[in-house]
Amino acid sequence: MRLLVTGGAGFIGANFVQDAVRDGASVTVLDALTYAGSRESLAPVADRIRLVEGDVCDAALVSSLTADADAVVHFAAETHVDNALADPAPFVQSNVVGTFTVLEAVRRHGVRLHHISTDEVYGDLPLDDPARFTENTPYNPSSPYSSTKAAADLLVRAWVRSYGVHATLSNCSNNYGPYQHVEKFIPRQITNVLTGRRPKLYGAGANVRDWIHVDDHNAAVRRILADGKAGQTYLIGAQCEQNNLTVMRTLLRLMGRDPDDFDHVTDRAGHDLRYAIDPSTLTDELGWKPVHTDFEDGLRNTIDWYRANESWWGPLKEQVEANYQERGQ
Ligand code: NAD
Ligand code: DAU
Repeated sequence: MRLLVTGGAGFIGANFVQDAVRDGASVTVLDALTYAGSRESLAPVADRIRLVEGDVCDAALVSSLTADADAVVHFAAETHVDNALADPAPFVQSNVVGTFTVLEAVRRHGVRLHHISTDEVYGDLPLDDPARFTENTPYNPSSPYSSTKAAADLLVRAWVRSYGVHATLSNCSNNYGPYQHVEKFIPRQITNVLTGRRPKLYGAGANVRDWIHVDDHNAAVRRILADGKAGQTYLIGAQCEQNNLTVMRTLLRLMGRDPDDFDHVTDRAGHDLRYAIDPSTLTDELGWKPVHTDFEDGLRNTIDWYRANESWWGPLKEQVEANYQERGQ
């Protein structure tokens, strides 16, 4: 299969591309190589892919690459909630206009699309309620990031209905694993410890996230690409709800530190309380199941990866922490 992978030099995209190439796919990556994208993340498969440095909003470029693909997997996006709060403009451009551009290209060339989205489009859930997100949960995004992802999802749904575009969508929970940018919660804390900084917890740390290993997310995407129903949305999650305080204390313990050796810092504006995914459609319809079900084991392997790959994240760390310091975080 010839795949065009947008955002394939980012965290989830690079892991997806590495797996897809090993599975025998022919892959072209389109990535703007923003601060979040990196050629090094594709180094293990560099000589087996085509990497095009370009913007997903460039209609002529996206159209010509799409014409040569059997399917487009659309990961490209601005993805960090704190950055969106500081400056939402690139999120509107890359996430909304970028998705519109991809949709017009797949419509023109009759190419299959899988659109990657997030559980954050559903807003948040109360802490003291067993309810979880399903495919029927109404959209209710809270942040500039999640509202642009919601807008993108709605465009995809409209292009399916109005133009018969062959697209599937997936909305996944919080990913962790190798190649995640050090601005994100888990790698930030690991690399804070590795660089002699104190880890930083927003507010009291009661907010709950539903963690999934990036390889499990990507295995689900491959299942959907193979057998997903056109127009269908699939929720991807590994049923691993944890509050941030617990994750922080676990990371510190696994790294041989005092579990309370961290700072409480200014909370995120509008901070979503809890995300939780009900993945039944995916498990019942497509038989997908997560493999990395031992979260501590996954965290241990992730810590090992960051220990072994300082050359990948080291050059990013100083700038990220300077940005956080400016925002009191
Ligand atoms: P990331 O920030 O690590 O990578 C995003 C990639 O997109 C980068 O390589 C960047 O250079 C590229 N990009 C950004 N704007 C672009 C543009 N205009 N043109 C071309 N390339 C551009 O993000 P990630 O965590 O790998 O997330 C990938 C996708 O998965 C996103 O759509 C995100 O919304 C979704 N998602 C992420 C998570 C998570 O926990 N990280 C969970 C659910 C869904
Ligand atoms: O749910 C899926 C989403 O998960 C994706 O759509 C986003 O692209 C991805 O960034 C992620 O969003 P979150 O905002 O949940 O992830 P983040 O890693 O930024 O933060 C996770 C939690 O940890 C959140 O409650 C905020 C908190 N946090 C974050 C950082 C960076 C801290 O307490 N301290 C920190 O230093």
